[in-house]
Amino acid sequence: MIQLDQRQPGKSGIVVPALGVGVWSWGDKSTWGYGTSYTRADITLAYRACLDAGLNFFDTAEIYGNGESERILGECMREDGRPVIVASKFAPLPNRFSASKLLDALDASLQRLGVSSIDLYQIHFPYTLLNKTALMDMMAKAYNAGKIRAIGVSNYNVKQMKEAHARLARYGIPLASNQVHYSLLHRKPENNGVLDACRELDVALIAYSPLQQGLLTGKYRAGQNFKIIGMRRFMRAYSTSGLNKIEPLLQTMETIAQARGKTTAQVALNWLLAKDDHIIPIPGAKNLRQATDNAGAIGWRLSEEEFRQVDEASREV
Ligand SMILES: NC(=O)c1ccc[n+]([C@@H]2O[C@H](COP(=O)([O-])OP(=O)(O)OC[C@H]3O[C@@H](n4cnc5c(N)ncnc54)[C@H](OP(=O)(O)O)[C@@H]3O)[C@@H](O)[C@H]2O)c1
Repeated sequence: MIQLDQRQPGKSGIVVPALGVGVWSWGDKSTWGYGTSYTRADITLAYRACLDAGLNFFDTAEIYGNGESERILGECMREDGRPVIVASKFAPLPNRFSASKLLDALDASLQRLGVSSIDLYQIHFPYTLLNKTALMDMMAKAYNAGKIRAIGVSNYNVKQMKEAHARLARYGIPLASNQVHYSLLHRKPENNGVLDACRELDVALIAYSPLQQGLLTGKYRAGQNFKIIGMRRFMRAYSTSGLNKIEPLLQTMETIAQARGKTTAQVALNWLLAKDDHIIPIPGAKNLRQATDNAGAIGWRLSEEEFRQVDEASREV
């Protein structure tokens, strides 16, 4: 039986914790990415803290740090030895002229991770010259060869999701998930039909950037001193006016967090968990403190009233 803080992505048969862990930052320390404020030792501590808390579902991709994220995740898995569930992604880049390249890319990912199969393999984005139906055919081929245990997509709209779902159905394979941006500061999946389609088709909605890249932890505040690195320097959300705009939401979250003995990040993640049981947030964590904090988002629920207050404050941003 599926427990409160477990999820079964679609009809895939795989059971994962309701909260996953995104490991993009583990391999991308470029100035464009997440900077260099953390070490390989921090990553090991974060990895162990996740497993200690029962969070053993990790999301990576071949393009994160040019394969480095997969390589580091594989290293952590071998060093630690406890069982984990791994999701990775194929990038349908313009220099890939045929859908069959997916099979080569998959082999390279398996090698970097050091595993014989990937639990959830996803198409990273739909913007491609490749035929998306042919990509699903390749996914089915990999699935039938035992190299992947479940199939997902990412950044797909409703139409693209339904097409992928229908193509896989020809092979008797369910579409397990659609990974899209979803947070209290980015609620598009509620308005563009993706959340409804996930419910209708019984497909998991894997929510990426669920902390809005740190903004929803409450550590970037208007009028406070902090250093912005990487891509954040180009984001309006981190400007004074951007931060002023989200202040009322952060204050509402903070009040609830304090009353419940939780943190603002935990409230942000718990709101997603309480929203719908198709949703699996995958926050990133760069060190032990962040991993432990995020893991505290499971094992409890916002009350209906708390959920409503956060929900309303987020709509007003
Ligand atoms: N499919 C896609 O196209 C796609 C796109 C983006 C992401 N993703 C996936 O989603 C995962 C998560 O997304 P994300 O990294 O963009 O955003 P996120 O999870 O919203 O934010 C992660 C960042 O927030 C900060 N943070 C995390 N937990 C914190 C805590 N408890 N307290 C304070 N700061 C904390 C850290 O950065 P600082 O310490 O620098 O503040 C961390 O790197 C990625 O790892 C990746 O697997 C997928």
